[in-house]
Amino acid sequence: MDTVVIGLGFTGLPVAVAAAKAGLRVLGVDADAHRVRHVTACTPGCGLTTTDESALAEVIRSGRLSLRHNEIVAADSYVVCVPTPPDRHGALDTAMLADAVDRVGAVLRRGALVIVQSTCEPGTVERILAPRLESASELRAGLDFHLAHSPVRTDPGNSTPTPRIVAGLTPECTERAASLLRRLSSECVTMSTLRAAELTKVFENTFRLVNISLANELATLCRAQGVDVHEVLDAAGTKPFGFLRHRPGPGAGGDCIPVSAGFFVANARRHGLHSPVVDASIAVNDSMPAHTLHRVRTKLTELGVPMRRVHVLGVTYKPGVANVRQSPALRVINELSREAVVSYHDPFVPDLVLDNGSKLTSQPVDASADVVLIMTRHASVSLRTSTLVIDCTAGDAVLAA
Ligand SMILES: NC(=O)c1ccc[n+]([C@@H]2O[C@H](COP(=O)([O-])OP(=O)(O)OC[C@H]3O[C@@H](n4cnc5c(N)ncnc54)[C@H](O)[C@@H]3O)[C@@H](O)[C@H]2O)c1
Repeated sequence: MDTVVIGLGFTGLPVAVAAAKAGLRVLGVDADAHRVRHVTACTPGCGLTTTDESALAEVIRSGRLSLRHNEIVAADSYVVCVPTPPDRHGALDTAMLADAVDRVGAVLRRGALVIVQSTCEPGTVERILAPRLESASELRAGLDFHLAHSPVRTDPGNSTPTPRIVAGLTPECTERAASLLRRLSSECVTMSTLRAAELTKVFENTFRLVNISLANELATLCRAQGVDVHEVLDAAGTKPFGFLRHRPGPGAGGDCIPVSAGFFVANARRHGLHSPVVDASIAVNDSMPAHTLHRVRTKLTELGVPMRRVHVLGVTYKPGVANVRQSPALRVINELSREAVVSYHDPFVPDLVLDNGSKLTSQPVDASADVVLIMTRHASVSLRTSTLVIDCTAGDAVLAA
């Protein structure tokens, strides 16, 4: 086997397909047997909107990509793409990464390459993963096998090519990893250390969180004095330098932006440092779903409309992507379900389990309700209804036209 890809989700499956399309013999491994069956059968939707399902079917048919449940084999290279969720303090929960590298270590051969592409708090690869690989394999990282980090920087649903960054434990590790990654993506930027690559990914996402929180603060300031925030942002956007537009919204979600900011804070603490700007941005972001709901309640009270039955449109954390992790819509639904009967429509999410354990199933777009709240605007969803519609996608409660 040339390459084993561990974790066949949003980010791992596209790598497995790209490697197979580049002519490598690839094994895709996942700890979830159901996921392996789904991908093997190329069931519609298995590409999770990040993998071209016809390309997937083609590489499976050609035999260049095979799939297994939890069975990692000896190979020239491994790409680790397992989730790196936050723990309850916002720091990295390394359990899935540790399990994956222990399994890799058990079959690792001299001269092989391990690339970790999961998002990591700076220091994770060298401090935690390298020793685990070494003890499971009885080989030395950087001497007997190559170890590198190349975080995923793509924006789900956005096909703009994004250069890879990559750094290895040694310059040779970097070179080995870069030469594999260059076969999979057009551009690859090499960096000097694993920590620098880890920090780049964490900083890029933290940068976005800080700026989204700033845009939300601006929106509140604009509202207080009757100024249209979008007019201000449009005008600021005409400046050709020093300004990068970010949109206000009901809160940034997904696996990357809010989670990486938590890793930034955890990393600062590990070094005895404070991160007041990032702390404040996380607090603003965390408050946005409740703030949005407050704006909805105020608007409905003004209009004299009851909030007994609420229909939410769009529950994913962003349009066009089948991912509800850290989605502000979920926070809103969980909160609303304490006081109202809540239904939702989302073509990407057939069902949802709420914090109280109850299960909701996606309803027709025009399900009957006192009010419809648009939380995420999918291009494929159009709504014609005589019910009151409130658009929350900019963090405020705006009557939809
Ligand atoms: N989803 C995104 O848009 C995105 C973007 C950039 C970076 N990332 C990062 O990429 C990494 C992976 O995220 P994802 O969204 O692809 O996750 P995912 O949940 O979509 O997929 C991960 C897969 O790994 C499997 N898995 C978990 N533990 C395993 C193990 N020990 N062995 C084998 N398989 C295992 C899971 O069953 C799952 O199918 C995370 O670090 C994430 O932060 C994600």
